[in-house]
Parts: sequence; structure tokens; C-alpha cells
Amino acid sequence: MARNRWYKDMVFYQIWPRSFKDGNGDGMGDLWGVLEKLDYIKSLGCDGIWFSPIYPSPGADCGYDIADYMDIAAEFGGMEAFRKVLEGVHERGMKLIMDLVVNHTSDEHEWFQKSRKRIEPYTDYYIWRDAKPDGKLPNNWDSNFEGKAWTWDEERGQYYLHLFAVKQPDLNMDNPLVREEVKKILRFWLDMGVDGFREDVITYISKKEGLPDDHLFPIYKGMPNYNHGPHIHEYLSEFKRDVFDHYDCFTLAEAPLVWPKQALKYIDEKTGQIDMMIQFQCQCADCLFTDYMPTKFSLTRMKKAFSDWQYKLAGRAWNMLYLENHDHPRIISRYGSEQFWAQSGKTLAASYLFQQGTPFLYQGQEIGMLNWRPHDPDMYEDVQTRYTYAHSNLKKSPAVRLQKMWRSSRDSARTLVQWDDSPNAGFTTAEKPWFYVNENYTRINVAAQENDPDSILNFYREAIRLRKSLPVVRHGVYKEHFASDSKLYIYSRAMKGEKLLVICSYSNDPVAMRVPAGFDLKNAELILTNYKTQGKLLQPYECRVYHWKK
Ligand code: GLC
Ligand code: CA
Repeated sequence: MARNRWYKDMVFYQIWPRSFKDGNGDGMGDLWGVLEKLDYIKSLGCDGIWFSPIYPSPGADCGYDIADYMDIAAEFGGMEAFRKVLEGVHERGMKLIMDLVVNHTSDEHEWFQKSRKRIEPYTDYYIWRDAKPDGKLPNNWDSNFEGKAWTWDEERGQYYLHLFAVKQPDLNMDNPLVREEVKKILRFWLDMGVDGFREDVITYISKKEGLPDDHLFPIYKGMPNYNHGPHIHEYLSEFKRDVFDHYDCFTLAEAPLVWPKQALKYIDEKTGQIDMMIQFQCQCADCLFTDYMPTKFSLTRMKKAFSDWQYKLAGRAWNMLYLENHDHPRIISRYGSEQFWAQSGKTLAASYLFQQGTPFLYQGQEIGMLNWRPHDPDMYEDVQTRYTYAHSNLKKSPAVRLQKMWRSSRDSARTLVQWDDSPNAGFTTAEKPWFYVNENYTRINVAAQENDPDSILNFYREAIRLRKSLPVVRHGVYKEHFASDSKLYIYSRAMKGEKLLVICSYSNDPVAMRVPAGFDLKNAELILTNYKTQGKLLQPYECRVYHWKK
């Protein structure tokens, strides 16, 4: 059956529910708050919502440690609020996707509780191993979050594998019963009317047989032995065949380490098992491998990553486009400039919103929220941040160590959404919200930007409106120009005579404008820009989008 692939015309908005909007005044974001803001999301031009996990969870990894897959956490409003949100989303002609986290569960999930007691059929639901004869760990793998990947369980008398936090034991996907459980979860939500899933670290679910030691990777040891593992395509095909093929839904897979050729094995439209992939390469223009190893931002690296994916997926698969999510610090603080806050926020938006693919915005990105700067490391909540802080740069001064966290922590982007300039940024009526608000909220907030035609918020709205009204953005051929230029990102889109040229400066100083051959600006219309007047030089972080009609 030919699929209509409706996701190709959409723009998604990611909600990280704890910090989005508190609707019942207890200090924690919830679905009642989401309900209040559906019209706002729609007003951005977004027609899809991705929810980070909203299931019952002890919260060891802010919901990515799930204790019950078929319910909604009471603190978010439970199933009642969820049904209202789902209805509200569909009434507005929008779609909703859930986060599917099945590489691991919470250790408080009933399956794990029974597995550690060897109660059937749960005994082999997780990855249990004896200690080595010399008492050592079963292998040398690292967890992605806190130390080694194995924790001893007294009750069972064995180690269990956890590629993330200690409280996130990995499921044994080689067990067919576990795969049946996954399918049950998928059907449960799809039958309720959910439109698809974002699949958390799904490329990790098949581990190499025998769980051998890894001698390849210096950090994240073990990754080559579980990322894109031996049965990954088989398991994903099974989910597709048994579930997804029977629904009008779409799937988005998170892949922490992947390159286009590899990605095509998953997302090639003829042969793949899923629709789109979240890749991290565009997030690595200022770090090596992960956010926790920051280096200087390199525009050429960012451009190369974007272009590589644009070129290599063209005609075969569809790009997922994003700059921010709940796992990365804020983009203006990283790739742009806090000094040229509004200009760089807009240039960043133009840099990705006119590419081919389906763009995602992360809550607060549309108003240019910035990295949060705590004065005390104890203010950090995130398990990964806390572990990293406690174990790295120990010889450096507290100020330097905090600066490194400011630059790299996931919490930098998890502060409360800044709705207005009232206490706690209008996020809650409670005195003490669950987390902090960035002190800049009196200056940077939705209310202040709503009525300002020059705001970042209204720039996003206009860019999205244009993107949706110009067929060349969906269908045109992408080409990057002046790839080695370290200050300008220039790309074009072209289709049957219609053309688009996007010019973005990443410089704090004015720089000479460059126009690729074959683009005569005299015949073009300047459809979007972030400065009132245009000269021969590009002003700091100036962006211009030119359009040639057919
Ligand atoms: C993904 C999520 C991240 C989570 C991790 C473990 O990378 O995006 O937030 O901590 O998986 O589930
Ligand atoms: Ca609440």
C-alpha cells in the first residue's frame, strides 16, 4: 500500500512536559498546561507534537525510565488529561507522537521486579550475567551516563546491564516475549489514536552475541558492540510488519552515532523499517563525539554535516531537521551569540528551516531561550550532568567546572519555558516550581515577543509559513555554496525554475556578501531577513532568503 507520508509536510514541536506549562498550580508542568497552549503551538505553524515521556516513572532520568508503558503519570494529569490533549490536537488538524523507550525500563517496572526474583516469564526479560570467576564485571562496557554498564543485584545474585543510569536496566530484546510486549505497547497507543513514535536510542536494542569486551572505543566503551547491533533490522522489520504497517502512523528513530550510509539501511523509503532518523552529527559542530567534550564551534563542520545528510538522503529518504532538543544545550549559546541574541537566533532558524526534511522545534527555541547558569552544581538535576560534574575536571577551579557544565549540560535547556515576565515566568502559579527559571525571563519571554513583529518568535512563524507555502522547500534540490567559507552558510534549493537562496552569516563583524554564480539577485524577491536594511556587507548574523518564481 502506497503511503501518503504526511509527515513530509509538517513541522513538529517537541514538548518536554515537566518544564512546558503547569496547568494545576503544583509547580510541575503537565498536560492541562499543554491543553492551554495548543493554540499557541498551532500559531507557530507547527502541526505535530512530540511528547518526551509522560508515563509513570520514578524520574531517575526525567521520565526516560518508565515504570508503566500503558498509562500516563498522575502528575501530568493521567489518562483523562491525555485523552483531552489528543482530542484537542486532532481537532486542530495536528498530529501527536509519543516517545517509545524500549531499550530499557525503570528498575521499578514490574517486569524488572519479577525478573530479579526469577518469576516466569520475566526471568529473561533483562540482560543478567554472573560475575566473572575472578569476581570482575561481565565485560568492560561503560554506561552512557554513570560509570560502568553493570550493577550487582543482591536479590538475583547477578549483574544486570544498563547502558544508561543504574535505574535503567536494559531489556533483552532477543527474547521474543519482550518483542511481543513492545508490540502490545505500540498497539495500545495507536489504537487510542496516537499518530506515531519517536523511538529512543532504538539503535542500541540488539547487543552483539556473547557481549564481548570492546577494544575499539576509548570512551563509551562497548558502543560498537551494541549500536546498530546484529539483529537490529530484523527486530525493526518485525515491529513494522506486525504493527506499523497496519496503521497510518510514522516513526522516528534516535541514533546517537550514525552516518548517512548507515542511516539508509533504516530509512530508505523502499527498503527501510522506519521513516526518519534523529542523527547527532549536526550537534557535533562544537564538541567531539558528545556535548561533554566541548571544542570551539566550527561553522564548516556544521555545514558539512547538514549538507552530507541533504545530499546523501536526497531521493531515497527523508531528513529530520533540528537544532535543539532536551539533550543538548541551547543553540544560540552554542552556535550563535548571546551578544547578537535576536540576530543569531534568526540566522540559526533560517539555516535549517529551508532545508529538505521535516523540521522540529524544541520548546523555548522559538523565543531564543538561552543556556541557564546555576551558581551551585547542586542545582543540577540531570543524572548525566551530576555524574559528569562529580567525575571530571576535578583539578579545575569551581568557576571553570561550572562554566563547562553551562556549556554542556542537558539542564541548560531544561529550565521552565518563559511565558511572560511574572514570577516564575508565568510557568506556574505555585511559589516553588520543580525546577529553575532562567534569570533572563523578564527580557526573554513569549508575551514580550507576541506583538513585536521583529521578534525571534515572529521570525519563526514567518519562516514556517514561507516554508509551507513554497513547493521548492519540499521538493527542490539542495546545494551548498562556498563550503569552505568559515563565516557564511549559503545554500540553495531549486526545482523547475523556482529557486531559493539562503545566506546566513555567523560572524560578529560585518562580512562581504557572497552570491553564487547563476543567482541574479536583481530578479529575486527578498522574502525573509533579520535586518531592516540590506547593504553590500552582511551585518553580524545577518540572514537573507531570496526567492525566484518560476
Ligand atoms: C535518549 C533520550 C535521553 C535519555 C536517553 C536514555 O538519548 O533523548 O533524554 O536520557 O535516551 O533513555
Ligand atoms: Ca502541574
